[in-house]
Amino acid sequence: MIIAVDGPSGSGKSSTARGVATRLGLRFLDTGAMYRAVTWSAVEHGLDLDDTAAVAQRARDLRLEISTDPGHQFVIADGTDVTAAIREPRISEVVSKIATNLEVRKELIRRQRAVIDNAQPSGGIVVEGRDIATVVATDAELKVLLTADQEARMARRGAEVGSLTAEQLRDQIIRRDADDSTVSEFQVASDGAVTIDSTYMTLEEVIDAISRLAKE
Ligand code: C5P
Repeated sequence: MIIAVDGPSGSGKSSTARGVATRLGLRFLDTGAMYRAVTWSAVEHGLDLDDTAAVAQRARDLRLEISTDPGHQFVIADGTDVTAAIREPRISEVVSKIATNLEVRKELIRRQRAVIDNAQPSGGIVVEGRDIATVVATDAELKVLLTADQEARMARRGAEVGSLTAEQLRDQIIRRDADDSTVSEFQVASDGAVTIDSTYMTLEEVIDAISRLAKE
């Protein structure tokens, strides 16, 4: 069983996908955390982020351990626990640049597919990201595209990164949407995906809806 949950930043896909995995007793993979970990590593190594070859090599060399336990998420990069560090604004601001590096995508997609394969004997996995239904796991049994309008996404993002002002937050969301519109080149519309607009739904309602679809 593979459940793909794709959507833009702040659509609530992380909490939703984690909630669905917990509800259905499945593993959980946050693919955005992998792009963030590569970004963290490239920044820590002082790489020029425009040097695509160097950044791609860093992605290939990185020892990455990512938890698939929905109740206990952590990311360890080259032995360092970066669970919190990869959420810092300095990473969020540049992660889209790393995500448009085709060689980085190739490497991370390979690793994501390995994680997905490993999870099958234990029942399956909920995978969240941008290109899961379209690229990473086109054979997913259930494909969900989660959307929400910009105000709702800002409010959710704000709850996550409490230290930013409303303006900083708006700037960050608008900038990342624009940067990620390049990423969407890699995510051609997926066949058979169910779109859920979560703007006026609670987290529980979205988790209920997806869990019901998964049981159909
Ligand atoms: O989901 P999250 O906001 O943590 O993702 C961070 C960034 O990683 C996104 O803004 C996007 O640029 C990139 N990403 C991607 N493909 C994925 C997951 C994330 O390009 N499957």
